[in-house]
Amino acid sequence: MNPRVDEILRFYERQGKPAGQEEILSALREIQEVLGCIPKAVQEEAALRLGVKPSFLAAFVKKYPGFKEVSEKYEVKVCTGPSCGAGKALEILRAVEAAGEEKERDQGISIKIVKGRCTRRCGKGPNLIINGVLHHHMTPEQAAGLIRRL
Ligand code: FES
Repeated sequence: MNPRVDEILRFYERQGKPAGQEEILSALREIQEVLGCIPKAVQEEAALRLGVKPSFLAAFVKKYPGFKEVSEKYEVKVCTGPSCGAGKALEILRAVEAAGEEKERDQGISIKIVKGRCTRRCGKGPNLIINGVLHHHMTPEQAAGLIRRL
């Protein structure tokens, strides 16, 4: 957990007593200011520490227009053409999906993952495109690593 967010939650934490609406709103505003968003994992931690149900806190994030769950968006295309497909494209796809889910839940970074067509660079495959930038000779581990570093 981000140390600033931990500090914010410690300030608003009440032992055995649920936080009031004003305290929840203030805590969420401060978290949004630090992280640029309020990722799902942070919402869950905040709900636990503020003594409210996660669904109650999530409703605040959805209700108030200034709050958002994701700060950045990426599009990842995994080439599943015939050549890349023969070279572990589906394993790469699964690794990228798992890393993407983790990234969104923990850091509020949204990653749209799609199957792409042949990019005509078959000799350098398996290929992966992140926001238009091509990455060659991918393995599932390398692809997941790229997603984790976004
Ligand atoms: S099949 Fe992937 S670049 Fe051609």
